[in-house]
Amino acid sequence: MTNSIKIEDSYQGYSLDSFCIPKHYEEDLESVLIPYGVIHDRIERIAKDIFVDFGKEPLVAICVLKGGYKFYTDLIDKINSLNRNQGERSVPLSVDFIRLRSYQNDKSVGTIEVIGGDNMESVKGKNVLVVEDIIDTGRTMKKLLGLLEEFQPKCVKVASLLLKRQPASNGYIPEYCGFEIPDKFVVGYALDFNERFRDLHHICVVNNNGINKYKV
Ligand code: IMP
Repeated sequence: MTNSIKIEDSYQGYSLDSFCIPKHYEEDLESVLIPYGVIHDRIERIAKDIFVDFGKEPLVAICVLKGGYKFYTDLIDKINSLNRNQGERSVPLSVDFIRLRSYQNDKSVGTIEVIGGDNMESVKGKNVLVVEDIIDTGRTMKKLLGLLEEFQPKCVKVASLLLKRQPASNGYIPEYCGFEIPDKFVVGYALDFNERFRDLHHICVVNNNGINKYKV
């Protein structure tokens, strides 16, 4: 894993009052952990690292839905921009989607279910980039990588926007990572708590009010 930004446990984040927060979430958040602008600037660098590492070979980029969709579209946009502007070479990209479910409330349920997406036959013999929102215990990613191996890709690398410092981690570390974060439940920028908060611009820490309001 290269040059990820480490957010320390002692970091309190930014006050909600310093940013624009939708009225419907004002009572449900503790702080802004990573503002939208910083997310974008970091993704720009991840795109550059991927562009350099994958050379001229075609790349199948797989979006893990739903939480990965914003990171995925912003990352692909930035790789495409490098493809248009670098002149000497470009990475031919194809896009695929997979939908998994592994979480209920703020706990991983320990099993992952593939509940939709493309047929993974397309990865055979190809370089594959899996794009995920967050690695927590690492169980989802280990299981997904096991699944993908059955379709015999040439190589598989993972880009995760966030990596949580989780005591129960299985040790899985992605090749590309935006930010290493404290063991807190975060929402926004497509990350959800029971399908809420995906429409929040910044990555924020949810508070007890938000958890109690939206738990099932
Ligand atoms: P893992 O299997 O424990 O690594 O969990 C990974 C999945 O859990 C992610 O793809 C997310 O969908 C979800 N997840 C874990 N932590 C968070 C969080 O803090 N906020 C939102 N979703 C999370």
